[in-house]
Amino acid sequence: MIYQEKCAVIENVNIAPDYFKLTVSSKNIHKKAKPGQFVEIRVSGSSAPLLRRPFSIHKINDDGFSVIYHVVGKGTKILSEIIVRDGQAPVLDMIGPLGNGFTIEKHKVAVLIAGGCGSAPLYCLEEELKKKGIESHFFMGATTKDLLLCGSDFTKIGTKLYVSTDDGTCGEKCTVSALFSSYIKTLDPKKCVIYTCGPKAMMRSVSDIAAKHNIPCQASLEEYMACGIGACLGCVVETTSGNKRVCKDGPVFDAKEIIWA
Ligand SMILES: Cc1cc2nc3c(=O)[nH]c(=O)nc-3n(C[C@H](O)[C@H](O)[C@H](O)COP(=O)(O)OP(=O)(O)OC[C@H]3O[C@@H](n4cnc5c(N)ncnc54)[C@H](O)[C@@H]3O)c2cc1C
Ligand code: FES
Repeated sequence: MIYQEKCAVIENVNIAPDYFKLTVSSKNIHKKAKPGQFVEIRVSGSSAPLLRRPFSIHKINDDGFSVIYHVVGKGTKILSEIIVRDGQAPVLDMIGPLGNGFTIEKHKVAVLIAGGCGSAPLYCLEEELKKKGIESHFFMGATTKDLLLCGSDFTKIGTKLYVSTDDGTCGEKCTVSALFSSYIKTLDPKKCVIYTCGPKAMMRSVSDIAAKHNIPCQASLEEYMACGIGACLGCVVETTSGNKRVCKDGPVFDAKEIIWA
């Protein structure tokens, strides 16, 4: 079931340079949301920008949910300017939960691999894995220390965190896929499943490593979107079984299926 709701903004906080965490209350979206699904947000009450913007669900709360967003253009700039004043909660029109999220494999060790903003949906997944008592290992990479998003949230819930940065300001100085490669010998590939989200180049590299070691891998893709509900074909990606819509058939796909451009 998909809902369109007016969601009251509880908090909109700057968590890293150009990154914000937006927390809203909702009636139904949070009750139905699953890790890896997303919402489409109408960022302003006016007709500009016309299209809603898609964001992955980061955290599901008792009475709502959060997303983490990177300010990259017009829509996210408008979102970043939302101020919550005492007793006055701004309201955002949202549609969700949308798309197909991660499929949790109960009998496997979960290996989560995130680059940059990819940690956002993987936090939601990690919470669910913890609830189900599934062993997990989290590999988190960013260009620099300040952009390792929500590191302390993960440690608070007891996540085994392995960190890399491109400039070596925190953790190993390498890419997150190289970091994972160096740990693979400590894991039994037959018992693992990989869940990944982040820049396309990173996920392609993770997908190659997964294929080489015969580890199933689920990748959450981001594409430009228009309708967000499967109607316009604005978000298709090439797969081994033809073109698929990221908004409706994904955003999570079996990485083996994706023809990485
Ligand atoms: C399923 C899904 C989940 C997403 N989850 C998140 C999330 O959790 N956090 C987050 O920060 N972003 C997420 N995104 C990307 C986010 O939707 C875009 O960054 C946002 O729509 C940009 O809006 P804007 O108006 O600020 O930028 P625009 O003014 O529309 O564009 C600014 C710049 O961003 C680029 N851009 C815009 N949209 C995308 C996109 N979808 N993919 C790659 N580049 C883009 C444009 O090429 C341009 O260079 C997600 C996208 C999808 C499809
Ligand atoms: S955005 Fe319209 S089909 Fe995906």
